[in-house]
Amino acid sequence: MKIGTIGAGNIGGTLGRAWAATGHQVVFGVRDPRGPKVQELVTATGGKARAASPAEAAAHGEVVLLATPWAAARAALGGAGDLTGKILVDATNPLQPDLSGLALGHTTSAGEEVARWAPGAKVVKAFNTIGAQHIANPRFGTQSASMLICGDDLAAKKTVLLLAESLGFDPVDAGPLRQARLLEPLAMLWISLAYAYGHGPDIAFKLLRR
Ligand SMILES: NC(=O)c1ccc[n+]([C@@H]2O[C@H](COP(=O)([O-])OP(=O)(O)OC[C@H]3O[C@@H](n4cnc5c(N)ncnc54)[C@H](OP(=O)(O)O)[C@@H]3O)[C@@H](O)[C@H]2O)c1
Repeated sequence: MKIGTIGAGNIGGTLGRAWAATGHQVVFGVRDPRGPKVQELVTATGGKARAASPAEAAAHGEVVLLATPWAAARAALGGAGDLTGKILVDATNPLQPDLSGLALGHTTSAGEEVARWAPGAKVVKAFNTIGAQHIANPRFGTQSASMLICGDDLAAKKTVLLLAESLGFDPVDAGPLRQARLLEPLAMLWISLAYAYGHGPDIAFKLLRR
């Protein structure tokens, strides 16, 4: 698929690199496409991806990944152009600047705000509930980490479930986009367990079934 990213840091860079490795056509959308950081990333893909402006990356993508800090998300989306008809994967978490908690929740979510800011885009919330360091390898021993994914457009959500599965995740359809109100606190739980309550970042959530 054609995938564009808005942001190419820990999440955007890692996801884009992993998708490029599995054959997708990836364009990293960054403010400075000639900058050393993103050029290093492009080199790491073996030339399978390229860097461009966020607007060019978004225009390229059938799937567009939003992977900026929450405080920058609205402006970044504004600079990405018209996303009508595109699958917009929202990986952001609306963190307080000091990581002490979420800046919004209960009655809305970052995913729903993103959908309001990008009318016409098919917003799917995904890849926000695990540390970026596990994206390229979500295997933990004999198990795959679950990736909880929600969105209102069923075909768009299916596409993202398959993109997660192709990276080795156990994909879980978590329901409509308003479920982002639950997935974002789950990300906060991951962060607090990893960095405040002694479990360290080598952890992931798994939905068990029988
Ligand atoms: N890190 C994780 O483990 C993790 C896991 C799950 C979800 N998330 C969420 O994913 C999002 C990104 O996190 P990250 O760790 O990948 O952050 P990051 O490493 O700081 O990368 C952020 C990216 O966004 C770009 N950016 C910042 N402001 C922008 C703007 N106004 N317009 C366009 N691009 C802009 C940055 O570009 P410049 O280099 O030009 O500043 C950079 O490429 C956050 O919302 C975070 O909560 C992170």
